[in-house]
Amino acid sequence: MGQALARRYHDAGWRLALVARRQQAMADWVQRQGLDPARITLHAADVTQPDSVIAAAHACMASQGVPDVVIANAGISHGMDSSERADLDVMQQILATNVLGMAATFQAFIRPMRERGSGSLVGIASVAGIRGLPGHGAYCSSKAAALTYCESLRGELHGSGVRVVTLLPGYIATPMTAGDHFSLPFLLSADQFAERAQRAIAAGASYRVIPWQMGVVAKLLRLLPNAVFDRLFAGRPRKPRLTPRPLTGVVAPADPVAPGTPDVPAASCADPDTPGHHPAPPSTP
Ligand SMILES: NC(=O)c1ccc[n+]([C@@H]2O[C@H](COP(=O)([O-])OP(=O)(O)OC[C@H]3O[C@@H](n4cnc5c(N)ncnc54)[C@H](OP(=O)(O)O)[C@@H]3O)[C@@H](O)[C@H]2O)c1
Repeated sequence: MGQALARRYHDAGWRLALVARRQQAMADWVQRQGLDPARITLHAADVTQPDSVIAAAHACMASQGVPDVVIANAGISHGMDSSERADLDVMQQILATNVLGMAATFQAFIRPMRERGSGSLVGIASVAGIRGLPGHGAYCSSKAAALTYCESLRGELHGSGVRVVTLLPGYIATPMTAGDHFSLPFLLSADQFAERAQRAIAAGASYRVIPWQMGVVAKLLRLLPNAVFDRLFAGRPRKPRLTPRPLTGVVAPADPVAPGTPDVPAASCADPDTPGHHPAPPSTP
């Protein structure tokens, strides 16, 4: 979704400061897309490390001035079993990325935007923040926190000329939802999302569900009494938890191991369930 937004703003003639953990991957993407490098600066930062994203914000302002729009898009999503100790660490990472990461992304821009009297701070939350879904406690609570954080910030900035735009995507086809095996109603492509998001930001919307049909569903879900809601979602398929595979065996090499050959470290296997492996597992919106 971040790439689709970048592409769309680029094509509309904007200057961009793109932030990601993997700067080389971002540079390669910019080149492959044929984007105009003269209008783009790239910054490496991890939003769970506030000082790194704040440094990126200052570098952006030093090279391009105070931006008109800042979009806090970084997010992660994994299933959760609250009875598992390991999932507390996963939850910590999800909250650090989706909540603290959003506040850290905005922080350095708030004072300069306020002094200038204009700007838009855009938080990408989710319809998953509207009600808590079983098996998704970490993600749903992170997005609920993102929603209320944006609302608090909107109140803080009221009358300053700085807008806070809260976007709640429904299901969007990205690596985050690529492995979802349950139905994804009203699924949009990342580009369809970006087009609607850009319009909502330009209109200065304070809160927008994309697509609107998911907004209606979300409102209805909010109205459902708990007993009905709980029954409805009790058997719903859940996305996988992010747990390391148990270390129960080693794949035998085709050739006998030569004397002195070091053991294969368990973490060197390309294991999609291993924390830190980037391609994202299935998720809620
Ligand atoms: N897809 C959906 O259906 C959907 C629905 C509702 C809301 N959302 C929200 O929309 C946003 C974008 O999601 P997406 O679907 O585009 O997911 P995605 O394809 O998995 O992309 C997420 C992006 O966030 C980056 N990121 C993760 N942790 C980061 C960190 N600590 N520091 C910096 N960057 C980090 C990832 O970078 P790496 O490449 O380095 O991992 C990746 O580029 C997220 O906030 C997500 O929760 C998505």
